[in-house]
Amino acid sequence: MAIDTREIYVTALKNTHAIEMQALQIMERQIERLKNYPEMEQALRRHVDETHGQRDRLEEALQSLGDSPSTIKEGFLGFVGNMMALGHTPAQDEILKNTYANHAFENFEIAAYESLLVIADAAGQSGHTTGFQQSLKEEQGMAQKVRELVGPTTRRYIELTTAGEKADR
Ligand SMILES: [Fe+2]
Repeated sequence: MAIDTREIYVTALKNTHAIEMQALQIMERQIERLKNYPEMEQALRRHVDETHGQRDRLEEALQSLGDSPSTIKEGFLGFVGNMMALGHTPAQDEILKNTYANHAFENFEIAAYESLLVIADAAGQSGHTTGFQQSLKEEQGMAQKVRELVGPTTRRYIELTTAGEKADR
């Protein structure tokens, strides 16, 4: 039985919403723990604020279709969760693992929004396109920021570690 484009769109909205909820958890957890990497902390704080707006845009789009974000695809979130579990295990190099995971996660989100925009177009749902393009730009900005922080973060990790200071987070 065929699934229509509206239903594909609703599913994409729900999936993207689930990703953003996961994003908030992941980032808030890191912010709470971060001590020695102020640039990463600042980037995460700013992106948490952006992510609240992204979540609201998705909820508005779902509500406009008479739907809600309640149904979560468990397998889908499980995949994201596995990827992020990398950074969740306390380790001496926690900051490095979190940096790699943040880079992966932001790029995951870029793909999700690019896909959502194609699906919205196919479904003839243009009402929230501008907002989703804004969300996509924010993800691209954060992906770039994390990428730029890979080198400096690693250098700081090495400095702190070799000086016998607390370097893990
Ligand atoms: Fe993001």
